[in-house]
Amino acid sequence: MVKNAKDKVHEMLHSGEGWTDFESQLKDIEVKCVVQPLSEPKEPIAKLKTNTLLDDILGGGGLEAGRVVELYGEFASGKTQVIFTLVVEAASEGMVLYIDSEDTFSRTRIIGIAKAREKDIEKINANIMKFSPQSWEEQLAVPSRIPEEFPTPLKLIVVDSLMALFRSTPEFGGRSNLGKRQELIRYHLRQLKQLAQKYGAIVVFSNQVYDEPVANPWMPKWACQKAAGGHSVWHIGDFRIFLRKAMGNVRIARLVDNAEIPSAERPFQINEKGIDDLSEDQQKLALEKLQKYEEAQAAGQFAKVKKKKTTTEDMANETVGEGENVEETEGKDV
Ligand code: GTP
Ligand code: MG
Repeated sequence: MVKNAKDKVHEMLHSGEGWTDFESQLKDIEVKCVVQPLSEPKEPIAKLKTNTLLDDILGGGGLEAGRVVELYGEFASGKTQVIFTLVVEAASEGMVLYIDSEDTFSRTRIIGIAKAREKDIEKINANIMKFSPQSWEEQLAVPSRIPEEFPTPLKLIVVDSLMALFRSTPEFGGRSNLGKRQELIRYHLRQLKQLAQKYGAIVVFSNQVYDEPVANPWMPKWACQKAAGGHSVWHIGDFRIFLRKAMGNVRIARLVDNAEIPSAERPFQINEKGIDDLSEDQQKLALEKLQKYEEAQAAGQFAKVKKKKTTTEDMANETVGEGENVEETEGKDV
């Protein structure tokens, strides 16, 4: 077998025989380089939209091909409902690949949303391909089972959720096994990113949260919620959206990280259309009520901490709560 420059560099890395000629090998490695003028594209770029105000922060007017989106938040915060809405919109135009690791995919709910949005239900039904991995190994195997070609272009790849099967596996329990798990997660994220690029599709994955000890008791509870998977996951999404509950069916979406759009919040509701806008009055009311509630929550927490707790350790135990582990801290995400 003829060795190429990459093989030779790998050989140097593993042989321990030194780095002679390393730079000249690097010079032989092909690197793609595209020089593009900073001008507007001639053709308008097709974007995937929820057709709600969430599109402002979810892609800056909708999601472009190749984007990776992370939706994270506690249970019932609306992650799956946002995903179902995107599925209905994407499947109206092309294929959707759905990796259902939590067993929460609901064709009935998707059809309901499609009806409410006046979409072609038959087309949507035919355009969804669902995988149901039962273990982390099966989840990692899904990308290799994706057909090379689809009858219509692949628009959306969903993983709901990214971490569930990894978090529930005893062999990754404990600090000493976390490194192995993180390596696999990084591998999986690279698989997903490569799929997005190969097919010109959008990747949306949901993520669970854990509670981090409060450094400052005035922080609202939601500000202590971190996405599972640690830094390896936090860096990957082009759009990181945090979802939290408000009153009834109202939820708040917060853009936490994006290279182009400043951080912002959008309230929305969950209803027969999947996700939907609130009227301006409802938005104002929802935000006002939520602010009062979160202020009261923080004040209550502060009073409790002042009365009972004196050490940082006590405060940490109080915040994490019974049965919850601070699973991924900065130091542990190796
Ligand atoms: P986990 O998967 O448990 O982490 O939560 P999640 O963030 O994915 O929650 P999900 O998106 O499933 O949202 C659940 C919330 O949506 C619940 O409060 C439900 O009451 C609400 N919901 C689900 N289906 C409907 C529906 O058909 N109509 C309305 N109005 N609300 C719904
Ligand atoms: Mg869910």
